[in-house]
Amino acid sequence: MKQIKLFPSILTIYVFAVFAVVSCITVIPVPAEEKQEQVIKVMAKTFEYFPANVKVKAGTPVVLELTSLDKVHGFHCPTLHLRADIFPRKTTRVRFIPDKAGVFPFHCDVFCGSGHEDMTGIITVEN
Ligand code: CUA
Repeated sequence: MKQIKLFPSILTIYVFAVFAVVSCITVIPVPAEEKQEQVIKVMAKTFEYFPANVKVKAGTPVVLELTSLDKVHGFHCPTLHLRADIFPRKTTRVRFIPDKAGVFPFHCDVFCGSGHEDMTGIITVEN
């Protein structure tokens, strides 16, 4: 009787031990694309972006992490077909893969006060 009672607990310990070892040695592969992403933080505040010149490499995926330091702003880069709202204390991610070198202007397209029209920046894509 004692052995029958003991058996499940030994099995349980064994299963946990195997699981622990397997979970320790299992390496979750990171996709190659994620490894070489260019993650760039862009701050927006009345009436500017920082950095105002976002430099990226052609052919490598880009993640723009957009945050506003004050109110709601917009991010619109027509030539790269990118558009997002930028909210205070919140990160909005915009992903794209620049396929060619060049200078691509962006601007705020959410009216944010007198000076809104001057809220601009550029994305510089280099080879
Ligand atoms: Cu910022 Cu309009």
